[in-house]
Amino acid sequence: MARLGHSAWLLVAAVLLSAAAAATSQLDCANATFQAGRSYRRCNTLPVLGASLHWTYHPENGTADVAFRAPQSSGGWVAWGINTQGVGMVGSSVFIASQANGTGGAVSVVTTVLESFSPSLRNGSLRFDVPAPPAAEYSAGAYTIYATVALPGNSTVQNTVWQAGPVRGGAIAMHPTSGPNLRSTKRQDFVSG
Ligand SMILES: *[C@@H]1O[C@H](CO)[C@@H](O)[C@H](O)[C@H]1NC(C)=O
Ligand SMILES: *[C@@H]1O[C@H](CO)[C@@H](O)[C@H](O)[C@H]1NC(C)=O
Ligand SMILES: *[C@@H]1O[C@H](CO)[C@@H](O)[C@H](O)[C@H]1NC(C)=O
Ligand SMILES: *[C@@H]1O[C@H](CO)[C@@H](O)[C@H](O)[C@H]1NC(C)=O
Ligand SMILES: *[C@@H]1O[C@H](CO)[C@@H](O)[C@H](O)[C@H]1NC(C)=O
Repeated sequence: MARLGHSAWLLVAAVLLSAAAAATSQLDCANATFQAGRSYRRCNTLPVLGASLHWTYHPENGTADVAFRAPQSSGGWVAWGINTQGVGMVGSSVFIASQANGTGGAVSVVTTVLESFSPSLRNGSLRFDVPAPPAAEYSAGAYTIYATVALPGNSTVQNTVWQAGPVRGGAIAMHPTSGPNLRSTKRQDFVSG
């Protein structure tokens, strides 16, 4: 029987470990439940901020139904979006959920294009179609944003961003600018995850 060299064993171990990590990451998000009978075919636990992305991709029309969930205090905000211009914050078209307008705990969603590092956050249209109005909820210490997006360029791989931060004086305020908050980007594959 051929003997595997030391480096071959290391490779086998690395492959097994990454398979286990991928399986765990599916498990962590797979049991999530959603409001109003919503369910999604696939999910990924995202690498930072305790967030997860759940989605169903419709190849027949290039849209994806998405649920983004991230832990946050009820007085804060969370956001998820797609950068059509490059990688990172600037150029991203995002959905921001908060209770900043604070009428009886109602969660509202702002849709906005982040035109700079200090964006206007004007509620407006995005750089891709949003065929249905977005919604959001706050429950069990987490915000969930529900959105349908026409994947830009009809491409199933997109540069995505997500974030969480505070509300100050009734307005979305700057998120922390170190550590995990600067690593919240992912090239998201909407077919394979
Ligand atoms: C998910 O649900 C299944 C079946 O109910 C259960 O066996 C499993 O332990 C759960 N996984 C997690 C991570 O909670
Ligand atoms: C896209 O296709 C799905 C599945 O057939 C359908 O439920 C959805 O309404 C369609 N969306 C648009 C914008 O046509
Ligand atoms: C998107 O691409 C799929 C094939 O991947 C195609 O069937 C569909 O018609 C395209 N949709 C749009 C809106 O271009
Ligand atoms: C608060 O409400 C105003 C008026 O509807 C809206 O323009 C603004 O985007 C909202 N702010 C947030 C953070 O939801
Ligand atoms: C943003 O605009 C949409 C469409 O006009 C609206 O439904 C939504 O309530 C607005 N969001 C906020 C926070 O005002």
